[in-house]
Order: sequence, then C-alpha cells, then structure tokens
Amino acid sequence: MEKTRWYKDMVFYQIWPRSFKDGNGDGMGDLWGVYEKLDYLKELGIDGIWFSPIYPSPGADCGYDISDYMDIAPEFGGMEAFRKVLDGVHRRGMKLIMDLVVNHTSDEHEWFQKSRQRIDPYTDYYIWRPAKADGSLPNNWDSNFEGKAWTYDEVRGEYYLHLFAVKQPDLNMDNPLVREEVKKILRFWLDMGVDGFREDVITYISKKEGLPDDHLFPIYKGMPNYNHGPHIHEYLAEFKRDVLDHYDCMTLAEAPLVSPKLALRYIDEETGQMDMMIQFQCQCADCLFTDYLPTPFFLPRLKRAFTSWQQGLEGRAWNMLYLENHDHPRIVTRYGSEEFWSESAKMLAVSYLFQKGTPFVYQGQELGMTNWRPERADMYRDVQTLWQYTHSALNKTEEQRLKRLWRSSRDGARSPVQWSSEENAGFTTGEPWMAVNPNYKRINAADQEKDPASVLNFYRRAIALRKRLSAVRHGDYREYFPLSPDVYVYAREDERQKLLVICSFAKKTLALPVPEGFDIDSGRLVLLNYPKAKKHFLQPYEARVYLWEK
Ligand code: NOJ
Repeated sequence: MEKTRWYKDMVFYQIWPRSFKDGNGDGMGDLWGVYEKLDYLKELGIDGIWFSPIYPSPGADCGYDISDYMDIAPEFGGMEAFRKVLDGVHRRGMKLIMDLVVNHTSDEHEWFQKSRQRIDPYTDYYIWRPAKADGSLPNNWDSNFEGKAWTYDEVRGEYYLHLFAVKQPDLNMDNPLVREEVKKILRFWLDMGVDGFREDVITYISKKEGLPDDHLFPIYKGMPNYNHGPHIHEYLAEFKRDVLDHYDCMTLAEAPLVSPKLALRYIDEETGQMDMMIQFQCQCADCLFTDYLPTPFFLPRLKRAFTSWQQGLEGRAWNMLYLENHDHPRIVTRYGSEEFWSESAKMLAVSYLFQKGTPFVYQGQELGMTNWRPERADMYRDVQTLWQYTHSALNKTEEQRLKRLWRSSRDGARSPVQWSSEENAGFTTGEPWMAVNPNYKRINAADQEKDPASVLNFYRRAIALRKRLSAVRHGDYREYFPLSPDVYVYAREDERQKLLVICSFAKKTLALPVPEGFDIDSGRLVLLNYPKAKKHFLQPYEARVYLWEK
C-alpha cells in the first residue's frame, strides 16, 4: 500500500481523556464529552486527534495499564461511543490515532493472570526471573515510577519485571507469540478505520540478553540495557512488514533519551520502521533528563534541542513538534511566565508552530492553561507523583515537599480542561475526579471565545497562518543568535516565501534582534502577540512573524 504521509500537512491535538470533557456527569472525562467538542477542535484548525489510552484498565497509571487491548472502557462510553467519535472525526475530515502501549500490560490483563499460573501459551508472555543465588533481586534495575523494577509474585514464585508501576508488568517481546498479539491489536484498530498509533515507550521493548546489572546510570538504573535494545529494529520492522505496510497509516514513536542521529534509525523515510518520534530534549531546558531534577530555565538549551532536530532530520525524516503533553508540567509556567501569562502563552505557540514538522497541541495548551498547584499532596492522582511524595525528600518540610511536586509533577498538566467560568470549570456537572485549577474563572475557553485577543484566538490565527504558508511546509530552517539567553530567532525559506520568526523569552524590553541580510521594513508583519509592535524594541515575551513573498 502506498504511504501518502498525510500527516505532514496536519496539526494534531492530544486528548488525555480523563480530564478533557465529561459528557455523562460522573466526574470523569469521556468520549461523549469528546464528541461534543469535535467542532471546537475543527475550528481551532485541528486535523487529527491522538487519544491517550481509552481501553479497559484498572487505572493504576491512568489507562497506560491496559487490561483489554481490543475494547473501549465502559466509563469512556465503550465501543458504541468510540465508533461515533471515530465517525464524527472522519466526517470532519480529521484523523484519529490511538495509543499503543505494548511495553507492558496491566497485571489484571488475562495474559498476566495466566502467565503467573504458568498456563500455556502465556507462561513466557512476561519477563519472569528467580531471585539471585544470594536471595537478592534478579538485577539492579530501577522502575521509572516506584522503586525497584522487580516485584515478587506469590502465585508463580518468581519476580516479574516492571519498568513502570508495580501494576504494569513488562511483556516479553522476544517471545514470537507476544509479537503476534501486537500485530493482532494493530490490525484490529486499523481495520476499524483508525489512522495510526502513538507507540508508548516503544524504544524499551527489547531488553539486553541476560538482563545484566547496570553500572552506568545513577538514576533510572538499567536504562542502557533496555532503551534501544538489541532487537528493537528487528521487531519494529516485523510490525511494519506484517501489518503497517498494508495500511496508509501513521506511527509516532515515544523515545526517551534519543538524539536526532539515533532517531534516524527509526524514522528515516527510506530505511526506518516508523514515521515520527516524540523526543524529550525540548522538555529539558529546565531540568536534567527528568522534571524531578529541576534546573533554572536556560533558553539556549531549548534552542539547541529545536535546531538540532530541525537540522538533524532535514531531508531524511519528519519532525513531530510539541511543547506539552500529559507527562510534563505546563509550559507557560515553565518556559513562559505567569506574570506575562497571555503574551508568553502566545509567544510559545509561535516558537514551535512555524518549525518544519507536524505540530501537536496538548489539551488546554491552546487556552494557556497554567500548572495546577493543589493545596495538599493527597489531591494528586498520579502514581509517580505519589511515590515521589512518599519516598523522596522525606527530610523536608511539608511545604517543601509540596513545592517540589508543584514544580515537577505531571499532574500539573492533568487537571480538567477549563471550558467556562461555571462550576468545575464547565468540565463536569458531577464531582470532578481531580480538582480543577482554581484559576478557571480567569482562564477558560468560553471567555476566550469572546475575546479576539485571547490565547485561544491567537492559536487559531497562528495555526491558520501556518497552513497558508508554503515555506512552513517545505522551507529550509535557519537559526540566528543561537547563544542568546533572551531571544529565539529563526527563518524559513522556500522558492516562494521567506519567513522570519522572532520570539522573546525575556521579562524586559529588548532591542529588536534583526539578523543580517533582513530588511524588516520590507517584510509584512503577519503575526504579532501584542496590539502594536515598536519599531526598534521587543516587548516582554513578544513574538513576531514577518513574511516576504518572492
Ligand atoms: C509514557 C506515557 O506517556 C506515560 O504517561 C506512561 O505513564 C508511561 N509511558 C508508561 O506507560
């Protein structure tokens, strides 16, 4: 089947369903709620939706612990509501991709229940090991969420590996039967009309033979022994050859710790096995690898991440562009400023929407939602956050522990979408499963609809502009002033157009940075996040896009 690579002309939106919109009043987001908002997404300029998991799940990791891959959870509306949404999406000319989570399942999945009892063919579906001769754990790996990566199972009398929560046992992808199961899942959804997959920590699925101890990494011990493991490309190529090649679909690989060079092994358009990649480097301008090791925000790091991916994939692979998702605190709070809230939210939009690639907008980002900071630790829901609270920073005061979570918890970006200034931000008529951010009276979609200068209307304009400009789709990328800690300046150029994008990340007024060879006065200012631009100065968090038609 010929691949049309339709995703290249699109802007995607990520729905994290629990907190998007509740349609039945039970306090949790669902597919009925999504259905109500399809026109809202269309008007924003969205062409495709990525759903974080909506399958049946005990919810230990908010759906990333799946107990049935071929169904939709009843609390989200079941298969009936899903088919309605899928149809509604396609009728509006949009695409829909699902989250494929096959590094691990839920421990409540039937496969695991049978595997722990050694019932064939499931006996080797997971990674089971006895204790070492001295009684210690099978190896020294850490889980990404809660303590060590091994838990003892009484029924089986062995340890199982879980790189994430205790309730997320890792599948044994070396077992061909497990790979057949993955293919069945892929076919099931593609045959139903789904357009592709975002593949959860897909670079973790092949573990080094013998599962050796790791003496390299101080935290996340074990990662070098399972990230980009020995058979990863072989397995991905098998999925491609046997299933994905037979559909005009798109795949997006989630890949912690990856460089553009390494990414090409996965997504080179000639030789790769997938289409795009979610890299983490753009999330590391204010932390070291994880949000739990914060550092002050440093713009040159963000720019290096942006530019190295723009240049590194040029002509060979396609970028996935994003600033927010459900795994990191909100970007306005981190890279922008709550003080210059509206200006910085809009500037951040400009900073990435005009790069080359397919942009993704995370729910609420288009409203400039800020980080949620609950008053008490027990208001958090996320397994990783709760573990961090109980097991780290124990010698700190309650206030210090809470502040740490405010800064680092991914729940900061998971509070319900703020639809209106009505009770519970218009998210639900029931009791919300997670508290809404109290600033919803000030930041919400209904008010922003009415205000032409709102963040929401700015996103609409920026996305519409992006789609009109051929230079954004095809043009070269060039960055200026890469070492500046205050401004991000880049140009895009094709045979018809030239664009100059100027973004200030500073709280103060700056001299307008104009790269050599650009005559600003001859260009058309096609996007600006202030009512008026000053001739020689950039206002705090100002963003401008200039256009020259050739
Ligand atoms: C990455 C997902 O984005 C995250 O939310 C999840 O907790 C882990 N993978 C485990 O599935």
